[in-house]
Amino acid sequence: MEDIAMLDIKPTGQACGAYATGVDLTKALDADCIAEIRAAWLEHHVLVFPDQPMSDDDLERFTLYFGDFGHDPFFAPIDGRENIAAIVRRADETSPLFAEGWHTDWSFQDKPPIATCLMGLTIPPEGGDTYFANQHMAYDHLPDDLKAEIEGVVAIHSAEAAYAPDGMYGQDKEEESDRSMRIISSEEARLKNEHPLVRPHTETGRPALFSTIGYIQGFKGMSKEQSDDLLMRLYQHQTQDKFVYRHKWKPNMLVMWDNRCLLHRASGGYDGYDRLLHRTTISERAA
Ligand code: SIN
Repeated sequence: MEDIAMLDIKPTGQACGAYATGVDLTKALDADCIAEIRAAWLEHHVLVFPDQPMSDDDLERFTLYFGDFGHDPFFAPIDGRENIAAIVRRADETSPLFAEGWHTDWSFQDKPPIATCLMGLTIPPEGGDTYFANQHMAYDHLPDDLKAEIEGVVAIHSAEAAYAPDGMYGQDKEEESDRSMRIISSEEARLKNEHPLVRPHTETGRPALFSTIGYIQGFKGMSKEQSDDLLMRLYQHQTQDKFVYRHKWKPNMLVMWDNRCLLHRASGGYDGYDRLLHRTTISERAA
């Protein structure tokens, strides 16, 4: 068992994120240590644990400290696991980069995952950074007129543009034939769910902008033109550099982030190198 006093948290100095050291995530953690990690995660929104040579069992155990496994509708899991997906790209892959657009994981679900864990296994020497945009900060910095305009607005979310058969990652797309990620596009992607555009965080109560263009198809009661106009203005605001933490990966690094108050996106710049990370999502624990 780990000693709670050993956990050390160092903020990145950017818009969110902190490095967490002093714990060994290849071993079981005690309740105090888990509570301390949770508190740090709620404060910094992204926690980075370097030098953690975790197995898939370790990743699953860590995930379950913070909730239940989320449901990943459009990824097939890795062999032998039900709840771990591989974010993978071969050195010679030609399909478009996965997840390069800003998004919130599975925001189109009725109950989107509260968190995502990503374990860096094969990390290229350059490129492949993950960007996180702090949506509490984005909300706090909204101009007064835009803040008033979006009060009470409800967004309609769907995975259609990404995971329907004719979507960005759909089986109908020729350029998808070379993809090594196990994406399962399906008609289920056309389902819609509504969420308030501004949501109080379910644990801290702090308001955040929830999700963005990509999974938000429009807003309730607005025409397509009105919705598209508002979505674009919000997108420009939400993704400003001043709200962003740029994360650089190393092998054996675990990152856990809070989907309730962040956007994130992948980036390229590592052609010629393999990249592999194992991913779990965390849903709010069933009562
Ligand atoms: C993701 O959005 O889950 C992938 C992020 C990354 O590959 O950097």
